[in-house]
Amino acid sequence: MSKSDPEESSATSHTDEVAKLTIWQRFKRHMKKWWWVYLIAFICIFLVVFLPIIYVGIPHFANSYINKYQYDETGLSITNPRPTAFHVSQSKKISMGGGFSGSGHLSAFDASIRTSDNREFAIFPVPEIKFGGGADLDIDQDLDLSCIDCLSDLAVSAATDKSFSVLVKGKPNLKLGGLPTAHLNIDKTLSMNGYNVTEFVNSEGAFNITSLDLLQDNEDGYNFNATLALRNPTPFTVEMGHVIFNLSMGGSDLGYVDLPSLMLKQENTSTVVLGKVNETMLVQEALLGSGEFGEVTIDVQGYSCDYNGQNIPYFAAAIKAVSASTTVDLTKYASSLLD
Ligand SMILES: *[C@@H]1O[C@H](CO)[C@@H](O)[C@H](O)[C@H]1NC(C)=O
Ligand SMILES: *[C@@H]1O[C@H](CO)[C@@H](O)[C@H](O)[C@H]1NC(C)=O
Ligand SMILES: *[C@@H]1O[C@H](CO)[C@@H](O)[C@H](O)[C@H]1NC(C)=O
Ligand SMILES: *[C@@H]1O[C@H](CO)[C@@H](O)[C@H](O)[C@H]1NC(C)=O
Ligand SMILES: *[C@@H]1O[C@H](CO)[C@@H](O)[C@H](O)[C@H]1NC(C)=O
Ligand SMILES: *[C@@H]1O[C@H](CO)[C@@H](O)[C@H](O)[C@H]1NC(C)=O
Repeated sequence: MSKSDPEESSATSHTDEVAKLTIWQRFKRHMKKWWWVYLIAFICIFLVVFLPIIYVGIPHFANSYINKYQYDETGLSITNPRPTAFHVSQSKKISMGGGFSGSGHLSAFDASIRTSDNREFAIFPVPEIKFGGGADLDIDQDLDLSCIDCLSDLAVSAATDKSFSVLVKGKPNLKLGGLPTAHLNIDKTLSMNGYNVTEFVNSEGAFNITSLDLLQDNEDGYNFNATLALRNPTPFTVEMGHVIFNLSMGGSDLGYVDLPSLMLKQENTSTVVLGKVNETMLVQEALLGSGEFGEVTIDVQGYSCDYNGQNIPYFAAAIKAVSASTTVDLTKYASSLLD
């Protein structure tokens, strides 16, 4: 009896240890098998946050990038831009697929978003995410920017065909079923290629003028009011605000167009455009110019972007990268022009 006692207690503690090990082994095995699910979930969240920042004004590249991760961006919107912040909202179910059946949650955490040379430019408070055959993503908050230059630099790279990368760091906790909490350390570099905005603006059917009215004696000096139909270059809703493009013709200043409130919507965007142009120059070119009768070729150069009167540096950087030329057939609008 006295001999068997220590044996029994050692056997018990041994069993405890085995049970503990088994939990850890189960956990490790689970993580080995499913680590990619969490990775994809993280990537999805980060894509939601960055791509809009980086790809505002930048076309379908973002779309295909997101699609690669089978992330459905419907419903994502960026609104209320300010010089050092904007609002991000999205409510979305992410389907994990692949027979994933674990349930648990990823704790809320602050994701630090940095340039490739490790300058932090934003901290995104990622909300708690619950898993269970999928994940619920519910975001409705401001993203504060701590380094505007960093973001503007990225916007310029993104808009001029250069490759660039963004670093994400964060330390969330992952809890799955009855398994011990795992302390994760995310340190992920996302590399992306820029997109040529000019090429997009010049592409067939990127925008059409759907109506055109001449204004007389407008107190702000505008001489036409048009409606423009645009293909949204981004796969999400982006409220850009007040955007100005300068216009020129054959190197001479023609005037500018003012888009008082540009909101890029998922599918069809329609926006009012007020123009202040040199009509003499336009008519001369249409009648006597080098092109077909009635046609004018106008060079468009992005100038500025502001919201509620405040310059929005990161959008302005993308707008300024727009440099395109477009041919407009004025005879199409003859009836409204002659009215
Ligand atoms: C973008 O494309 C246009 C026309 O295809 C080209 O002239 C321009 O150099 C390109 N810009 C960049 C930054 O690659
Ligand atoms: C321009 O046209 C739009 C829509 O037709 C109208 O709502 C707006 O008031 C017009 N703006 C000016 C300055 O005429
Ligand atoms: C512009 O018009 C062309 C030809 O009618 C059409 O194919 C294209 O989809 C239109 N683009 C937009 C943005 O509405
Ligand atoms: C572009 O338009 C703005 C706004 O009207 C004007 O102040 C600026 O001088 C123009 N720039 C050029 C290069 O024409
Ligand atoms: C977008 O425009 C296209 C072409 O004009 C049209 O067929 C489609 O129904 C529009 N979609 C929405 C949501 O308005
Ligand atoms: C408009 O264009 C004509 C012809 O190019 C030029 O002579 C005139 O000075 C311009 N007007 C203004 C206000 O710039």
